[in-house]
Amino acid sequence: MKAIALTAVGPPENLVLVDLPVPRITADQVLVQVKAVSVNPAEAFGRRNQEALNFLYKLRGDEPHVVLGWDISGVVVEVGAAVTTLRPGDEVFGMVNYLQHAQGYAEYVAASPIDLALKPATISHAEAAGATLAALTAWQSLVTDGQLQAGEKIVILGASGGVGHYAVQIAKHLGAYVVAVGSPDNKDFLLQLGADEFIDYTSQRFEELVTDADLVHDAVWSDAEPRHIERSVRALKPGGRLMSLVTYFDDEFHALLKTKHLTGYKVSVQPNAADLARIAELLATGALKTHVSHTFPLAEMHRAHALIQTKNAVGKVIVTL
Ligand SMILES: NC(=O)c1ccc[n+]([C@@H]2O[C@H](COP(=O)([O-])OP(=O)(O)OC[C@H]3O[C@@H](n4cnc5c(N)ncnc54)[C@H](OP(=O)(O)O)[C@@H]3O)[C@@H](O)[C@H]2O)c1
Repeated sequence: MKAIALTAVGPPENLVLVDLPVPRITADQVLVQVKAVSVNPAEAFGRRNQEALNFLYKLRGDEPHVVLGWDISGVVVEVGAAVTTLRPGDEVFGMVNYLQHAQGYAEYVAASPIDLALKPATISHAEAAGATLAALTAWQSLVTDGQLQAGEKIVILGASGGVGHYAVQIAKHLGAYVVAVGSPDNKDFLLQLGADEFIDYTSQRFEELVTDADLVHDAVWSDAEPRHIERSVRALKPGGRLMSLVTYFDDEFHALLKTKHLTGYKVSVQPNAADLARIAELLATGALKTHVSHTFPLAEMHRAHALIQTKNAVGKVIVTL
């Protein structure tokens, strides 16, 4: 089968097309013929940083080929003897083999049924492949950890990106008032997604315009501004909740949170069958949509990585097979 292997830690061009054996499944796995795979910033980070690569994919170091890719959509072609929930022919999507040797950048991947949901018939494999890690992250930030309620005000930083564009839609679905922060090119996109207000971070300071948010979902890491997260603290009202996707909180920061009686969470996406099933329902009804900004063929995985590491991707970047 065709697959994309990482030849060595380094630039996107180290992702090369190879021919590998089709994986063998265990009794409790299914074999999925992959139709689309989505790409995330963490994959591009692991690709260029050995420590991150080993952590994210639990590599031993003696793998003949390193194949990245957690976010897949495809068709079940074989089921293990102990699998009762899926059948050959089922169209499925999900975040598979998360924090293990993922192996989703390939024509076939062995996956656990618990990591998969049935793909709604109304959406494409590309749209389904997008609504995996990024959609789970948005759901777990806003619903599981953030407990966002109807009528609350949420500020979403990184709103036009993979996670953020799902977060805007989930927040609106929950009945929240959404302030989306992005660059000016993405204003119309974010308002069309349902945001109530748009703030242009290139010319405005969101923490001066909003100081009464119930929740801030912060997906921004800036090397130029390492204490960017403190601006999110200023946007919250006393007692609010801060969800950070990228910043770990040190003691000094916890002390800052305490001064405003804030609760802070470092969001860490987890595979979760119930959350994925809920996302599948929202995709089926159209309450949640994937915006696919770019698709590339498998052989051009390097282009997908080059795009995602700009940190300015809109919606999801998808590779199709
Ligand atoms: N903790 C977890 O479990 C978890 C899970 C998923 C993702 N993440 C992390 O969360 C971050 C976002 O992920 P993603 O997949 O959504 O990335 P993405 O698709 O690359 O989107 C990044 C977004 O950030 C926006 N942005 C860049 N600089 C900004 C700034 N200074 N202020 C406001 N927005 C800014 C960009 O908007 P413009 O184009 O408008 O600039 C873009 O829409 C990444 O760092 C990723 O690694 C963490």
